[in-house]
Amino acid sequence: MACSAVTLSIATIGAVVAVVCLAVGFGTDNWYEIRVNRTIIRARLEGNTEDLKNFENDARYFDRDEGLFRICFPQQKPRGVSTYVSPVQTECMNINYYLPENKISDDFSEERWERLHMARAVIGLYLVGFLFLFFSFFTGVAGCWKRSHGNIVATGLLQLLAALVDAGAMGLWHGVQYYDYQKLRDSMAYFGWPDVLKHKGHTTFNYGWSYILVWIGVGMCLLTSILFLSSAHCLRREKKTEQAKNIQYLMPVYPDKRQPYNYAAYPGPYYQYGY
Ligand SMILES: *[C@@H]1O[C@H](CO)[C@@H](O)[C@H](O)[C@H]1NC(C)=O
Repeated sequence: MACSAVTLSIATIGAVVAVVCLAVGFGTDNWYEIRVNRTIIRARLEGNTEDLKNFENDARYFDRDEGLFRICFPQQKPRGVSTYVSPVQTECMNINYYLPENKISDDFSEERWERLHMARAVIGLYLVGFLFLFFSFFTGVAGCWKRSHGNIVATGLLQLLAALVDAGAMGLWHGVQYYDYQKLRDSMAYFGWPDVLKHKGHTTFNYGWSYILVWIGVGMCLLTSILFLSSAHCLRREKKTEQAKNIQYLMPVYPDKRQPYNYAAYPGPYYQYGY
Protein backbone atom coordinates (compact mmCIF):
# COMPACT_ATOMS: atom_id res chain seq x y z
CA MET A 1 0.00 0.00 0.00
CA ALA A 2 2.67 2.49 1.08
CA CYS A 3 4.79 2.26 -2.06
CA SER A 4 2.06 2.90 -4.60
CA ALA A 5 0.32 5.53 -2.45
CA VAL A 6 3.47 7.58 -1.86
CA THR A 7 4.68 7.36 -5.46
CA LEU A 8 1.22 8.21 -6.77
CA SER A 9 0.99 11.28 -4.52
CA ILE A 10 4.41 12.55 -5.63
CA ALA A 11 3.55 11.82 -9.26
CA THR A 12 0.29 13.74 -8.96
CA ILE A 13 2.00 16.78 -7.47
CA GLY A 14 4.67 16.56 -10.18
CA ALA A 15 2.03 16.37 -12.89
CA VAL A 16 0.29 19.49 -11.58
CA VAL A 17 3.59 21.40 -11.44
CA ALA A 18 4.42 20.23 -14.98
CA VAL A 19 1.10 21.44 -16.37
CA VAL A 20 1.47 24.81 -14.64
CA CYS A 21 5.03 25.27 -15.97
CA LEU A 22 4.02 24.32 -19.50
CA ALA A 23 0.90 26.46 -19.54
CA VAL A 24 2.59 29.55 -18.08
CA GLY A 25 5.60 29.19 -20.37
CA PHE A 26 3.38 28.64 -23.39
CA GLY A 27 1.31 31.74 -22.68
CA THR A 28 4.01 34.20 -21.65
CA ASP A 29 6.39 36.12 -23.85
CA ASN A 30 9.85 35.84 -22.32
CA TRP A 31 11.18 33.12 -24.59
CA TYR A 32 13.83 35.08 -26.39
CA GLU A 33 14.99 38.39 -24.97
CA ILE A 34 16.63 40.83 -27.35
CA ARG A 35 18.36 43.83 -25.83
CA VAL A 36 19.47 46.76 -27.95
CA ASN A 37 22.00 49.28 -26.68
CA ARG A 38 20.16 52.35 -27.91
CA THR A 39 22.66 54.76 -26.41
CA ILE A 40 25.52 53.57 -28.54
CA ILE A 41 23.35 53.15 -31.64
CA ARG A 42 21.93 56.68 -31.39
CA ALA A 43 25.49 57.98 -31.26
CA ARG A 44 26.37 55.95 -34.36
CA LEU A 45 23.38 57.23 -36.33
CA GLU A 46 24.02 60.89 -35.45
CA GLY A 47 23.31 63.16 -38.42
CA ASN A 48 21.57 60.54 -40.56
CA THR A 49 17.91 61.63 -40.53
CA GLU A 50 16.57 58.61 -42.41
CA ASP A 51 18.19 56.16 -40.02
CA LEU A 52 17.19 58.23 -36.98
CA LYS A 53 13.56 58.05 -38.14
CA ASN A 54 13.82 54.26 -38.26
CA PHE A 55 15.50 54.40 -34.88
CA GLU A 56 12.24 55.69 -33.38
CA ASN A 57 9.79 53.70 -35.51
CA ASP A 58 11.29 50.29 -36.29
CA ALA A 59 10.70 47.56 -33.67
CA ARG A 60 14.15 46.12 -34.34
CA TYR A 61 15.78 49.11 -32.64
CA PHE A 62 14.02 48.41 -29.33
CA ASP A 63 14.46 46.03 -26.40
CA ARG A 64 11.94 43.25 -26.84
CA ASP A 65 10.83 39.91 -25.45
CA GLU A 66 9.59 37.41 -27.96
CA GLY A 67 7.10 34.67 -27.10
CA LEU A 68 5.11 32.25 -29.19
CA PHE A 69 2.30 34.70 -29.81
CA ARG A 70 3.57 38.16 -28.99
CA ILE A 71 6.56 40.47 -29.14
CA CYS A 72 6.60 42.76 -26.12
CA PHE A 73 8.49 45.95 -25.41
CA PRO A 74 9.49 46.12 -21.74
CA GLN A 75 11.10 49.60 -21.99
CA GLN A 76 10.09 52.02 -24.72
CA LYS A 77 7.84 51.09 -27.57
CA PRO A 78 8.39 51.98 -31.21
CA ARG A 79 6.23 54.72 -32.67
CA GLY A 80 5.66 53.01 -35.98
CA VAL A 81 4.04 49.90 -34.50
CA SER A 82 0.56 49.60 -33.06
CA THR A 83 0.71 47.77 -29.75
CA TYR A 84 -1.75 46.73 -27.08
CA VAL A 85 -1.38 46.01 -23.37
CA SER A 86 -0.90 42.28 -22.80
CA PRO A 87 -2.40 40.38 -19.82
CA VAL A 88 0.89 40.95 -17.96
CA GLN A 89 0.78 44.71 -18.57
CA THR A 90 3.47 45.19 -21.18
CA GLU A 91 3.09 46.79 -24.57
CA CYS A 92 2.95 44.00 -27.15
CA MET A 93 2.27 43.27 -30.76
CA ASN A 94 1.05 39.96 -32.11
CA ILE A 95 3.24 37.62 -34.13
CA ASN A 96 1.71 36.99 -37.52
CA TYR A 97 1.11 33.34 -38.38
CA TYR A 98 -0.70 34.36 -41.57
CA LEU A 99 -3.94 32.64 -40.69
CA PRO A 100 -5.67 33.40 -43.00
CA GLU A 101 -2.93 33.69 -45.58
CA ASN A 102 -2.76 37.05 -47.29
CA LYS A 103 -1.00 38.99 -50.04
CA ILE A 104 2.26 39.15 -48.10
CA SER A 105 2.39 35.42 -47.47
CA ASP A 106 1.57 34.72 -51.12
CA ASP A 107 4.94 36.21 -52.03
CA PHE A 108 6.91 34.14 -49.53
CA SER A 109 9.86 32.14 -50.76
CA GLU A 110 9.90 28.41 -50.28
CA GLU A 111 12.22 28.68 -47.28
CA ARG A 112 10.06 31.37 -45.69
CA TRP A 113 7.12 29.01 -46.04
CA GLU A 114 9.11 26.22 -44.42
CA ARG A 115 9.76 28.53 -41.51
CA LEU A 116 6.08 29.47 -41.25
CA HIS A 117 5.00 25.83 -41.31
CA MET A 118 7.51 25.06 -38.57
CA ALA A 119 6.31 27.96 -36.45
CA ARG A 120 2.71 26.82 -36.83
CA ALA A 121 3.73 23.24 -36.03
CA VAL A 122 5.32 24.43 -32.76
CA ILE A 123 1.92 25.72 -31.62
CA GLY A 124 0.21 22.59 -32.96
CA LEU A 125 2.54 20.27 -31.08
CA TYR A 126 1.99 22.16 -27.83
CA LEU A 127 -1.74 21.84 -28.25
CA VAL A 128 -1.38 18.08 -28.84
CA GLY A 129 0.80 17.92 -25.71
CA PHE A 130 -1.88 19.67 -23.67
CA LEU A 131 -4.47 17.26 -25.08
CA PHE A 132 -2.42 14.30 -23.82
CA LEU A 133 -2.14 15.94 -20.40
CA PHE A 134 -5.89 16.56 -20.41
CA PHE A 135 -6.58 12.86 -21.06
CA SER A 136 -4.00 11.83 -18.47
CA PHE A 137 -6.01 13.75 -15.87
CA PHE A 138 -8.99 11.46 -16.39
CA THR A 139 -7.04 8.21 -16.52
CA GLY A 140 -5.14 9.39 -13.44
CA VAL A 141 -8.28 10.12 -11.43
CA ALA A 142 -9.83 6.80 -12.47
CA GLY A 143 -6.60 4.96 -11.68
CA CYS A 144 -6.32 6.39 -8.16
CA TRP A 145 -10.02 5.96 -7.44
CA LYS A 146 -10.26 2.35 -8.49
CA ARG A 147 -6.62 1.46 -7.75
CA SER A 148 -6.49 0.26 -11.32
CA HIS A 149 -3.15 -0.85 -12.72
CA GLY A 150 -4.19 -0.28 -16.34
CA ASN A 151 -5.37 3.28 -15.79
CA ILE A 152 -2.19 4.27 -14.00
CA VAL A 153 -0.06 2.78 -16.78
CA ALA A 154 -2.14 4.76 -19.28
CA THR A 155 -1.54 7.94 -17.23
CA GLY A 156 2.21 7.32 -17.24
CA LEU A 157 2.25 6.70 -20.98
CA LEU A 158 0.18 9.83 -21.69
CA GLN A 159 2.60 11.88 -19.59
CA LEU A 160 5.48 10.36 -21.51
CA LEU A 161 3.83 11.21 -24.84
CA ALA A 162 3.19 14.77 -23.66
CA ALA A 163 6.85 15.12 -22.64
CA LEU A 164 8.03 13.82 -26.03
CA VAL A 165 5.66 16.02 -28.03
CA ASP A 166 6.58 19.10 -26.00
CA ALA A 167 10.29 18.38 -26.31
CA GLY A 168 9.71 18.03 -30.06
CA ALA A 169 7.98 21.40 -30.06
CA MET A 170 11.00 22.92 -28.31
CA GLY A 171 13.29 21.40 -30.91
CA LEU A 172 11.17 22.80 -33.69
CA TRP A 173 11.14 26.20 -32.01
CA HIS A 174 14.93 26.13 -32.18
CA GLY A 175 14.56 25.21 -35.83
CA VAL A 176 12.51 28.37 -36.37
CA GLN A 177 15.21 30.38 -34.60
CA TYR A 178 17.82 28.80 -36.86
CA TYR A 179 15.83 29.79 -39.93
CA ASP A 180 15.36 33.33 -38.62
CA TYR A 181 18.96 34.00 -37.66
CA GLN A 182 21.01 31.85 -40.01
CA LYS A 183 19.26 30.21 -42.90
CA LEU A 184 16.86 32.77 -44.29
CA ARG A 185 18.27 35.46 -46.56
CA ASP A 186 15.38 37.92 -46.87
CA SER A 187 14.43 41.29 -45.43
CA MET A 188 12.30 39.77 -42.65
CA ALA A 189 15.15 37.65 -41.26
CA TYR A 190 18.22 38.64 -39.24
CA PHE A 191 20.03 38.85 -42.57
CA GLY A 192 18.00 41.95 -43.44
CA TRP A 193 18.65 43.80 -40.18
CA PRO A 194 20.43 47.17 -40.37
CA ASP A 195 24.19 46.69 -40.01
CA VAL A 196 24.45 48.90 -36.94
CA LEU A 197 22.22 46.43 -35.06
CA LYS A 198 24.21 43.41 -36.17
CA HIS A 199 27.44 44.97 -34.94
CA LYS A 200 28.94 42.96 -32.11
CA GLY A 201 27.70 44.06 -28.67
CA HIS A 202 25.01 46.40 -29.99
CA THR A 203 22.31 43.75 -29.73
CA THR A 204 22.38 40.91 -27.22
CA PHE A 205 20.23 37.80 -27.12
CA ASN A 206 19.16 35.66 -24.17
CA TYR A 207 16.73 32.87 -23.50
CA GLY A 208 14.11 34.11 -21.05
CA TRP A 209 12.26 32.56 -18.14
CA SER A 210 9.26 31.41 -20.20
CA TYR A 211 11.58 29.26 -22.28
CA ILE A 212 13.28 27.86 -19.17
CA LEU A 213 9.91 27.22 -17.53
CA VAL A 214 8.76 25.14 -20.49
CA TRP A 215 11.92 23.01 -20.31
CA ILE A 216 11.29 22.49 -16.59
CA GLY A 217 7.75 21.47 -17.50
CA VAL A 218 9.04 18.95 -20.05
CA GLY A 219 11.45 17.52 -17.46
CA MET A 220 8.71 17.28 -14.84
CA CYS A 221 6.44 15.51 -17.34
CA LEU A 222 9.13 12.95 -18.00
CA LEU A 223 9.75 12.48 -14.29
CA THR A 224 6.06 12.05 -13.46
CA SER A 225 5.63 9.55 -16.27
CA ILE A 226 8.38 7.44 -14.70
CA LEU A 227 6.75 7.82 -11.28
CA PHE A 228 3.32 6.81 -12.59
CA LEU A 229 4.74 3.77 -14.32
CA SER A 230 6.68 2.67 -11.24
CA SER A 231 3.68 3.22 -8.97
CA ALA A 232 1.63 1.03 -11.32
CA HIS A 233 4.33 -1.60 -10.87
CA CYS A 234 4.11 -1.21 -7.07
CA LEU A 235 0.34 -1.46 -7.18
CA ARG A 236 0.41 -4.73 -9.05
CA ARG A 237 2.90 -6.22 -6.61
CA GLU A 238 0.83 -5.08 -3.64
CA LYS A 239 -2.34 -6.51 -5.12
CA LYS A 240 -0.59 -9.84 -5.57
CA THR A 241 0.52 -10.01 -1.92
CA GLU A 242 -2.99 -9.01 -0.84
CA GLN A 243 -4.43 -11.80 -2.91
CA ALA A 244 -2.00 -14.28 -1.42
CA LYS A 245 -3.12 -13.22 2.07
CA ASN A 246 -6.77 -13.61 1.16
CA ILE A 247 -6.15 -17.12 -0.09
CA GLN A 248 -4.65 -17.98 3.30
CA TYR A 249 -7.87 -16.84 4.99
CA LEU A 250 -9.86 -19.10 2.69
CA MET A 251 -7.77 -22.21 3.49
CA PRO A 252 -9.80 -24.85 5.32
CA VAL A 253 -8.56 -26.06 8.67
CA TYR A 254 -8.14 -29.76 8.23
CA PRO A 255 -10.62 -31.76 10.29
CA ASP A 256 -9.29 -33.73 13.20
CA LYS A 257 -10.79 -36.86 14.70
CA ARG A 258 -13.17 -35.11 17.04
CA GLN A 259 -14.61 -32.74 14.52
CA PRO A 260 -14.35 -34.59 11.25
CA TYR A 261 -16.21 -32.10 9.04
CA ASN A 262 -15.52 -28.83 10.76
CA TYR A 263 -13.96 -26.16 8.56
CA ALA A 264 -13.08 -23.38 10.93
CA ALA A 265 -12.79 -20.46 8.56
CA TYR A 266 -14.70 -21.58 5.54
CA PRO A 267 -18.32 -20.52 5.68
CA GLY A 268 -19.13 -22.02 2.30
CA PRO A 269 -22.08 -24.16 1.31
CA TYR A 270 -20.36 -27.32 2.52
CA TYR A 271 -19.97 -26.09 6.06
CA GLN A 272 -21.16 -28.79 8.52
CA TYR A 273 -21.37 -29.01 12.26
CA GLY A 274 -19.67 -31.90 13.97
CA TYR A 275 -21.85 -34.29 15.97
C1 LIG B 1 25.93 50.51 -24.20
O1 LIG B 1 27.22 50.57 -24.75
C2 LIG B 1 28.08 51.50 -24.07
C3 LIG B 1 29.39 51.56 -24.85
O2 LIG B 1 29.88 50.30 -25.15
C4 LIG B 1 28.27 51.05 -22.65
O3 LIG B 1 29.10 51.97 -21.94
C5 LIG B 1 26.90 50.96 -21.96
O4 LIG B 1 27.06 50.44 -20.65
C6 LIG B 1 25.97 50.08 -22.75
N1 LIG B 1 24.66 50.13 -22.15
C7 LIG B 1 23.99 49.04 -21.82
C8 LIG B 1 22.63 49.27 -21.25
O5 LIG B 1 24.44 47.93 -21.98
